[in-house]
Amino acid sequence: MDVVRRQLGENTRAVHLPQVPVPEQQPLGTPVYRTAAFAFRTSEEYASVLNDERPGYSYSRIDNPTVDAFARAVAALEGPNLPTWPAAQAFASGMAAISTVFLTFARTGAHIVASAATYGGTYSFLRNVAGRFGVETDFVDMTSLDAVRAAMRPATRILYAETIANPTTAVANLPALADIAHETGALFVVDSTLAPPVVCRPLEYGADLVLHSATKYIGGHSDVTGGVVTGRADLISRVRQVRVDTGGSLAPDEAFLLRRGLETLPVRVRRQCSTAMMFAATVSRHPGVRSVDYPGLPQHPGHTVARRLFDAGPEGVRFGAIVTVTPHGGREAGMAFADRLRLAQIATSLGGTHTKVSHAASTTHRQMDSRALESAGIDPGAVRFSIGLEDAEDLISDAYVALDSLGRPLGARWTSNARSGWQSSSAAGARSIRSPAPAPRTYCPPWIPPSTRSCPSASRGTAGGCRSPATPGGSRSAGTASCRRWTPWPRRGRRLLRDRAAPRAA
Ligand SMILES: Cc1ncc(COP(=O)(O)O)c(C=O)c1O
Repeated sequence: MDVVRRQLGENTRAVHLPQVPVPEQQPLGTPVYRTAAFAFRTSEEYASVLNDERPGYSYSRIDNPTVDAFARAVAALEGPNLPTWPAAQAFASGMAAISTVFLTFARTGAHIVASAATYGGTYSFLRNVAGRFGVETDFVDMTSLDAVRAAMRPATRILYAETIANPTTAVANLPALADIAHETGALFVVDSTLAPPVVCRPLEYGADLVLHSATKYIGGHSDVTGGVVTGRADLISRVRQVRVDTGGSLAPDEAFLLRRGLETLPVRVRRQCSTAMMFAATVSRHPGVRSVDYPGLPQHPGHTVARRLFDAGPEGVRFGAIVTVTPHGGREAGMAFADRLRLAQIATSLGGTHTKVSHAASTTHRQMDSRALESAGIDPGAVRFSIGLEDAEDLISDAYVALDSLGRPLGARWTSNARSGWQSSSAAGARSIRSPAPAPRTYCPPWIPPSTRSCPSASRGTAGGCRSPATPGGSRSAGTASCRRWTPWPRRGRRLLRDRAAPRAA
């Protein structure tokens, strides 16, 4: 062969380089097959691979080994307790996965029942794309089983839910919804993007297909887009066929990153869930907060279902790492709150190492009009936090400072040096955006241990005085409880936390 090669021209030799060796030993990292096409020994082999008569690869829109390695890895994480191993298909994005599933199983005349609180892109696809092909969708409150049952029709092909809804954090009662879907002969499809397989595995609760925007927790670093669908092999084979025809295939480089992301998924998500729990519990006590939606909070309507369905580790139940905070004051206050955060970044996407925020009504759910937002239970002021890997106390401090600032004039901004305080950038147009009934501004952050509290307002009683709830494990009784006056000072929360961790001798 080399003799022949030496006789060829330089261009030919450059193109026909020696073959890449196939190692005997398994590489620990995932090899990237960055190739669009594969070569065959014979036309017969080519034809039989194309016709799925023998395993193999022909063209990377159809199949690619790196992409398959990623898809199989997700299937392994989604189905460890199932009697038969699920199959999986990977896609260029979460929306490619979602649209392909609908295109596979819904045809003209089909009816879909989907969650009213579904991701905005899915909502838009069902309304604007599927609708044009004669597929009708009813958006219902997935937390009301009666409403779901009432919406099902003989023509319903798909019941579509999100394990944790984005951004309301409503939790789907997966086994009950699976029963409703199967009673009517529909498929139960679950978007579990916000609850990756170390939080919940919907196939184990009766889902027929589970999909993810792999862009989020699976990739985990906000540097790749991808999607994946897992489920029974016969269903996945139909999904693959439509993917091949529509072309939303994942690229090998992205597949490499996504598979690598899976290796740290449990470590990242466990930490993100713990931080989210602490963040939600603490921020919900700020008087400027109207509501905090997080399934880990006992008052959350989906708390009991989440406890039953979600995984637990030594750190406790993992309730996910999306926390939606709604300050008093509506849409304007929500946007201002997001703008005034300094650590959490206003950015698209979720599930990465950085904590990200988005004001849902104007960004991720902008496709919904006010009626759709209302029926989805999305408050116009809701700000979605995707908790990252930062220290919990820093994130809490950041949120407290931003919330405190909402009582300040609109247009006021932190200067680059936080210690120099507020600087109004438009004093003329300044006006308060706090809600009509502002909570008293004297309170203490709940991480201050009761023993160290010395609240000047405690002696005045609770009315107009300390509004701080008891810290977990601590107690607060009138007369004895006291708190420090919380000042909106960015480093203060951290210092207090440090003091708490290592109390000094009195
Ligand atoms: C729950 C959910 N599903 C699907 C998607 C779409 O994923 P992608 O952006 O990867 O297409 C998103 C994106 O934010 C999402 O939050």
